[in-house]
Amino acid sequence: MHEPAEIRGERVTLQHMVRADVDEMAAWPRFSEPDLQWANLDLTYPADRDAYFERGRTNATRRRFVIRNETGALIGTVGLRNLNFRDGHGTLGIIIRADSVGKGYGTDAIRSLLRYAFDWLHLQRVLLDVAETNHRAQHVYEKLGFVPIGEHLGPQGIIYIDMVLTREAYERQQNTGS
Ligand SMILES: CC(C)(COP(=O)(O)OP(=O)(O)OC[C@H]1O[C@@H](n2cnc3c(N)ncnc32)[C@H](O)[C@@H]1OP(=O)(O)O)[C@@H](O)C(=O)NCCC(=O)NCCS
Repeated sequence: MHEPAEIRGERVTLQHMVRADVDEMAAWPRFSEPDLQWANLDLTYPADRDAYFERGRTNATRRRFVIRNETGALIGTVGLRNLNFRDGHGTLGIIIRADSVGKGYGTDAIRSLLRYAFDWLHLQRVLLDVAETNHRAQHVYEKLGFVPIGEHLGPQGIIYIDMVLTREAYERQQNTGS
């Protein structure tokens, strides 16, 4: 079955990323927070943009979308990596551009991606990891039903919390409307 051309949220729309999107993303403002420097994508030169696009493009184990807001502006990227259809899981990642955080777009985009992951890809669980210091992201993930299942040490000594949303928990939420 063909992938849906786009995924509609309440306010955002997810579309499969195309190479031209990366040129737009190169003009995004930078995060000033030391802990979010990883989210400042290195897209200065066309070769960087080619490499970023090729590295992350949708393939057998990845789905990568851009997030557009109500006006059609490209305000983020969200996706699933390490997709394993045999065991039914994938790992979520998201960046909302620095001047568009805190406006509800991230919650809407993740909710939309979860609908795609569970209802369309039929995954059994969605995984993610989040830096222990990233309280905003943790709040959003908890709000959407993710629970911590462990932690691990990442590069530069950063502690990451591993979280999961299972199909059972997702379906329970749908049924209770929460
Ligand atoms: C994390 C991220 C995706 C969330 O998306 P967003 O659009 O900013 O989030 P929303 O506006 O939908 O929701 C933010 C929520 O966090 C809350 N929040 C904001 N700052 C917070 C903080 N310091 N601590 C706890 N909660 C916080 C807000 O009150 C809001 O909660 P509410 O909906 O219950 O009122 C986005 O901020 C982002 O891309 N950040 C930079 C990259 C990143 O951290 N990616 C995730 C890596 S795991």
